[in-house]
Amino acid sequence: MTIGFILNGEDVKVQTEAHFRLIDILRNKFNLLEAKSGCLCGRCGCCSVIFNGKVKPACSIPAFHVRNSEIITLEGFIQTDEYQDIMKGFTQANVETCGYCDAAKIFAIEAFLDIIPKPERADAAGAFDGVLCRCTEPSSLIDALLFTADIRQRRRYGRGA
Ligand code: FES
Ligand code: FES
Repeated sequence: MTIGFILNGEDVKVQTEAHFRLIDILRNKFNLLEAKSGCLCGRCGCCSVIFNGKVKPACSIPAFHVRNSEIITLEGFIQTDEYQDIMKGFTQANVETCGYCDAAKIFAIEAFLDIIPKPERADAAGAFDGVLCRCTEPSSLIDALLFTADIRQRRRYGRGA
């Protein structure tokens, strides 16, 4: 079947097998490899994308749901100021990573700050529940999230934010 959708800001059309999921379409048809194949059952977050404005695992979205949707992958998100905020947050928290779960961590922070832009540490306790990361302590990821929140507030609203 042929489906059309918006991918990283561009209208695209692709011929896809009916049994494909979004992760298969991204990796096999567009060579977008930042959505990684992890658990393939919606639990590890490694394949996260922004799907119609919400962070979702691409392995849980069947091809027919992709039609007419708007998708931002990590490759597209890298172009944004929001991504730069998160990178600065990681640096400030001394988070070093292997890169395998980047989509999981980065989009988990983005989804969280979308709902709670100025969190306290207690708010952030469950922020990475859907992220299976073998390299980083959960407390370091929470540090990165809190630094990112501060960095973003200052970027958007100035020093007094
Ligand atoms: S590979 Fe999709 S959530 Fe794990
Ligand atoms: S940074 Fe290596 S698995 Fe998360």
